[in-house]
Amino acid sequence: MNIRMESRAAAHIETEALVTFVFEKDGRVENLVAELDQATGGQIKALCDSGELTGKYAEMTLLHQAPGMTARRLLLVGAGKPEKWGGRELRRATGAALRHLKSRKVRNLAVLAREMNRDAASAQAITEGLLLADFESDTYKTDKKDDQQVETAALAGFDGGSFAKAERGVATGRITSDAQNFTRALVNEPSNKLTPRVLADRAAAMAREAGLGVDILDEKRIAELKMGALLSVAQGSAEPPRMIVISYTPGKEKAGAPVLGLVGKAVTFDTGGISIKPADGMEKMKYDMAGGATMLGVMKALAQLQPAIRVICVVPATENMPGGRAQKPGDVQIAMSGKSIEVINTDAEGRLILADGLAYARKLGCTHLVDAATLTGAIVVALANVNMGVFGSHQEFTDRLLASARVAGEKMWPMPLDDEYREMIKSNIADIQNVGSGKGGGAVTAAMFLKEFTEELPWIHLDIAGVTWFDEAKPFAAKGPTGIGVRTLIDFVMKYPS
Ligand code: BES
Ligand code: MN
Ligand code: ZN
Repeated sequence: MNIRMESRAAAHIETEALVTFVFEKDGRVENLVAELDQATGGQIKALCDSGELTGKYAEMTLLHQAPGMTARRLLLVGAGKPEKWGGRELRRATGAALRHLKSRKVRNLAVLAREMNRDAASAQAITEGLLLADFESDTYKTDKKDDQQVETAALAGFDGGSFAKAERGVATGRITSDAQNFTRALVNEPSNKLTPRVLADRAAAMAREAGLGVDILDEKRIAELKMGALLSVAQGSAEPPRMIVISYTPGKEKAGAPVLGLVGKAVTFDTGGISIKPADGMEKMKYDMAGGATMLGVMKALAQLQPAIRVICVVPATENMPGGRAQKPGDVQIAMSGKSIEVINTDAEGRLILADGLAYARKLGCTHLVDAATLTGAIVVALANVNMGVFGSHQEFTDRLLASARVAGEKMWPMPLDDEYREMIKSNIADIQNVGSGKGGGAVTAAMFLKEFTEELPWIHLDIAGVTWFDEAKPFAAKGPTGIGVRTLIDFVMKYPS
């Protein structure tokens, strides 16, 4: 989809559909821009009077061939109550408009930003709304609906002082959404198409094209480095593991400057191993590499946005399979850090591969760490599919991420890391065990396990198990991978003090 700026006045925009937003006030639609009502020959007022148009959030009202307008259609999108209107609402309402029009075979549209949205951040949100809503999970469909592609979109309403700012917002939004859609496309891939080796190839191709550093560790180098935790998960599979390392180096770098490590879990399929999962819903475990895909998407954007800080992305990639060589409950493994781990449950494999991923990021010189992982079912019990869980070791570091989450419109909720939870991963025969003893706190004990491998560095763990997949289509998004986390992390890195 091509996105451009439009400087003509609303009534004179040549487009198949002009989209704008209408607010709800006191249970009725706001006293809308008289200019638009005039252009429709009073249709808007009539719709308000009849109660058909209320401004309720995501309500869609489509008018055709308004007499005073060049646009062939006018789509009024309900924006809800003005006090609840923010970037998240603007992004999603724009996305809902795109999907509404796309299904009606509209190929080009223009979005008229309302007066409170004439800034760079809003132009970025509108651009993201359009491009994210345009994503489809149709890679393997042979009857792709090519006639239902939106070809061009224009942003209108920005004039004089706001035009150049909006242009910059569009450019940034293009980069962030392309990155997020790159992540979603990876997450969507079935495990027979996306093995650890293929994921590594795709990551390396992205990195080379973007001008990033790349180092793919194969099973031999992984063994030389004694990454026993990663190898223990991989040993049950016919597919060899990979440790994917992608790096970004800023133009100017001060000695002693911080180095940020982005570590992502990439289990390309999680059967549970010998502690095998039930068949029902197991097909979804192809998305167990979403944490890794998130970090790769972030790197793709950073290559273009050029932050001031060095960033190293580390993605341990493997399958988790049962088999004659698979690890068994009770086995003891030695992680790269030297710590011994009793594997009580082979289905708690994410924390094992991240143990070596986090340790390797530190070995490469990272001073700060963020990891993302579809780590536990317990986080879904705690937060459902609404918020991702955020565990942070240093409050100031975590607060900055939570601030970026608000900017990006991605919901995150802080979770605890009290010392008491550490007791729950004590092992009888090894330094730690890979599941918590006793009932409850499964997402927290998983985080405590990871913490053992961060060596006191400022660290944030994102458990994205509940938010990485839409089980149903949304008005603003296709059913399937969400790519959530990518935009927050981009904002977080771009605001990083160098
Ligand atoms: N990949 C799963 C976590 C998961 C569950 C992701 C549901 C998405 C949806 C992870 O590897 C896992 O199996 N975790 C176990 C840990 C348990 C054995 C301690 C879980 O949460 O059940
Ligand atoms: Mn598992
Ligand atoms: Zn898993």
